[in-house]
Amino acid sequence: MARYDMPLYDENLAMVESEGRGTIDLEQTAARKPKSSRPPAKNRPYIKGTQVLESGHSWSPVDGRLLTVEDLQVEFRMRDGVAHAINGVGFHLDQRETLAILGESGSGKSVTAQAVMGIIDSPPGFVTEGTVDYCGVDLLRLAEKSRQQVRGAQIAMIFQDALSSLNPVFPVGWQIAEMFRVHKKMNKTDALKQAVRLMERVHIPAAADRVASYPHQFSGGMRQRIMIAMAIALDPAVLIADEPTTALDVTVQAQIMDLLKELQSDSGMGLILITHDLGVVADVADRIAVMYAGRLVETAPVDQLYATPRHPYTIGLLESVPRLDAKLGETLPAIGGLPPNLLAMPDGCPFNPRCRFARPQCSIGDPPPLVQIEPGRAVACPWWDRLEERS
Ligand SMILES: Nc1ncnc2c1ncn2[C@@H]1O[C@H](COP(=O)(O)OP(=O)(O)OP(=O)(O)O)[C@@H](O)[C@H]1O
Ligand SMILES: [Mg+2]
Repeated sequence: MARYDMPLYDENLAMVESEGRGTIDLEQTAARKPKSSRPPAKNRPYIKGTQVLESGHSWSPVDGRLLTVEDLQVEFRMRDGVAHAINGVGFHLDQRETLAILGESGSGKSVTAQAVMGIIDSPPGFVTEGTVDYCGVDLLRLAEKSRQQVRGAQIAMIFQDALSSLNPVFPVGWQIAEMFRVHKKMNKTDALKQAVRLMERVHIPAAADRVASYPHQFSGGMRQRIMIAMAIALDPAVLIADEPTTALDVTVQAQIMDLLKELQSDSGMGLILITHDLGVVADVADRIAVMYAGRLVETAPVDQLYATPRHPYTIGLLESVPRLDAKLGETLPAIGGLPPNLLAMPDGCPFNPRCRFARPQCSIGDPPPLVQIEPGRAVACPWWDRLEERS
């Protein structure tokens, strides 16, 4: 019996355990292999970047366009099969623009952001198709060394679990200063001065005194400000904020959104705001892209999406937002059912089992493509202009 000390994934790149190292029994693993009609995962192609940029490459947006993502496809090769987490997602982002990516849990918002940043957990995750064009360079084809010039300095991200990602044993000022020490090779004193300046910029009161405080000595809202400070430390042109306000109460949520808008208007950066909360994005986003089961189902300017949602999923999301003019005792409608299991997607439109407008044709064939219905608006439902409620 062959036993090896090795990372816990088998030769078919399917994860056996989610993390860590350990001992794996290869014979047992072979016996557990999934029966699938698809070719083995390792025989399918995936994008492995090799293009190298000269150091100090200068990045400039083409006609104000920072980012263009096209036909992005990401899959996770698991022991039970291949989960197609992102299926042909495309969007763009201009300077000073805020694009909100909205969708339920598991719809692929964070994986989309991770693909743009080049930090997909791989294996089991692989980008199999698409382009992520940043200022004329396809980031997916860049060699890892060159991607490091982009990450943080050009495109920065505030992570979904940001509040818990500060290191509890180091003062926050030290953690911010580390950005300048590593990326700008500053000495300790200058880096700490920059850290105080950044803490002031994100409105942390008495920044000079608090630079030596530890994360637990800050409230949740203040810790989120510190995470924002770290993200903007290198003056990125694009900031991706993944659920930046989810763990905060409503008043602090509004303050954090105000801060992001203020920083954006100072620097002109493009902002991608990931959220599952339609209420958060109404005042801040220019455009919204609604995701469902790894696909975009509707994209529109924010006011048009709120006024005339076209996709049944967007209609359901909007109906489930609490309204001030609701009658007392009125029940908030919720979208029935659950998002599909990525390993067993329904035929036809992925939303059809939960769609109250669904027709028999909706459960046949391929998922409907995202089609432009007017300039700046696109919908992935062929019935968008003929929606009739079914029982
Ligand atoms: N490292 C991973 N290994 C396996 N599957 C993953 C991994 N990361 C994400 N996925 C799967 O990809 C799909 C999309 O996940 P993602 O984290 O992008 O969802 P999300 O829209 O950000 O949800 P949430 O609102 O809960 O953050 C999910 O089905 C998830 O289980
Ligand atoms: Mg997420």
